[in-house]
Amino acid sequence: MPDTEGPDDLFALPGLSRTAPKGGFPASEMFPQAAYEIVHDELMLDGVSRMNLATFCTTWVDDQARRLMAECLDKNIVDKDEYPQTAELERRGVRMVADLWRAPDPATTHGTSTTGSSEAAMLGGLAAKFRWRKRGGSGTPNFVCGPVQVCWEKFARYFDVEIRQIPLRADRLTMHPDDVAAHCDENTIMVVPTFGQTFTGLFEDVAGISATLDTLQQTSGLDIPIHVDAASGGFLAPFAAPDLVWDFRLPRVKSINASGHKTGLAPLGSGWAIWRDAGDLPEELIFDVDYLGGSMATFNLNFSRPGGQAITQYYDFIRLGRTGYARVQSTIYRVAQHLAAGLRGLGVFEMIHDGDPRRGITAVSWRLTSDSGFNLYDLSDRLRTRGWLIAAYPLPPDRGDETIMRAVIRHGFTVDMTDLLLEDLIRCMKQLERRPFSSPLTRAEAGGFTHDAKAAVPDAKISPP
Ligand SMILES: Cc1ncc(COP(=O)(O)O)c(C=O)c1O
Repeated sequence: MPDTEGPDDLFALPGLSRTAPKGGFPASEMFPQAAYEIVHDELMLDGVSRMNLATFCTTWVDDQARRLMAECLDKNIVDKDEYPQTAELERRGVRMVADLWRAPDPATTHGTSTTGSSEAAMLGGLAAKFRWRKRGGSGTPNFVCGPVQVCWEKFARYFDVEIRQIPLRADRLTMHPDDVAAHCDENTIMVVPTFGQTFTGLFEDVAGISATLDTLQQTSGLDIPIHVDAASGGFLAPFAAPDLVWDFRLPRVKSINASGHKTGLAPLGSGWAIWRDAGDLPEELIFDVDYLGGSMATFNLNFSRPGGQAITQYYDFIRLGRTGYARVQSTIYRVAQHLAAGLRGLGVFEMIHDGDPRRGITAVSWRLTSDSGFNLYDLSDRLRTRGWLIAAYPLPPDRGDETIMRAVIRHGFTVDMTDLLLEDLIRCMKQLERRPFSSPLTRAEAGGFTHDAKAAVPDAKISPP
């Protein structure tokens, strides 16, 4: 370490005059300013999160939310004895979300904040598995779904449950209610409609699926519950399409997950799992522990978790209320529709989801209609040169020869930014028409991050269509 007479220029500090430690555990220390600068500067190579239209997650929060997150940095949400008010705010959050999703008795039902939808989905799935076993289920449990986010493939593999994905048919890109019954049997622990599909942004027809399962029960006696994966839709439809019935208004819906850190507008690391009635969460999943002083119930996958996310989500709820969420979400839908109109006007794209709040989330998805001399991977790649991250990817395996593109519009993305994006898109398309790419791309090269586990195989070659 330099003495106090040492270099006074930050970039002359010893830590910055050699390469950053990268391999084994660093042998020596450095000044915090130097270590900070190394980390800070390296992160300049990341994309700009607000220009990342591939993500569903929050990339803009207000100053008050930032302050609360910083103030709560040291609060462990599991330590309910030491931080009783954090626990209280989480409980209020559970009641508010249960009320929003029309649970019969929001004051008494069970629910929890989670680190995101993946954890919440696993908890919903585990509860369904335990309920099935309690009913005398034996053999290999299964669940039925359409094209799902990778968290459900993880749930199946980690917890030894068979996943029965219904193949897509005809032009329909969501699970068709008429196809559900044929995939169910006495070992089906749940059907999982996605309310805001990851691939397209479209809502699956929860009410239609519920009606199909009612008929199945009448004809076969099988009483199969629904868990709704409302990762993105859960904080949209209640405000932007309140008469759309997808939630606990349907008695068959026993549990719902959503990401607070997506359309809930909370910072990253926030999700919710809510059960219809307290009895729908089997007590075997609830552990009472007393390590931290006082006895407390825990049914999260992790023990320690930061408290700031649930606290900041509670701030969002009381700050905006129903009227504020309705205003914010309908503004975001309008921006999505503006993008869809701009894309449609270019004459080469067909809209799959155009930001209609009754059909899906605040996203736009589209495919190429004509032979335009470029493909969507090329376009996605070109757009990166201006900093825009827009995902191009294949549809689920049974339609994997089709490529689509999706832009998720989020809080903080404006009409003006949409117009800048459209201008860049037109410029990129012209460049590609003049000088198309020709070499096949690997999936990793083409898509970068993907929500699809199979698509993440790095060496699978994709030929441009
Ligand atoms: C439908 C759906 N379910 C689950 C998830 C996983 O959510 P999280 O990233 O909050 O774990 C996502 C993420 O995009 C999703 O779109």
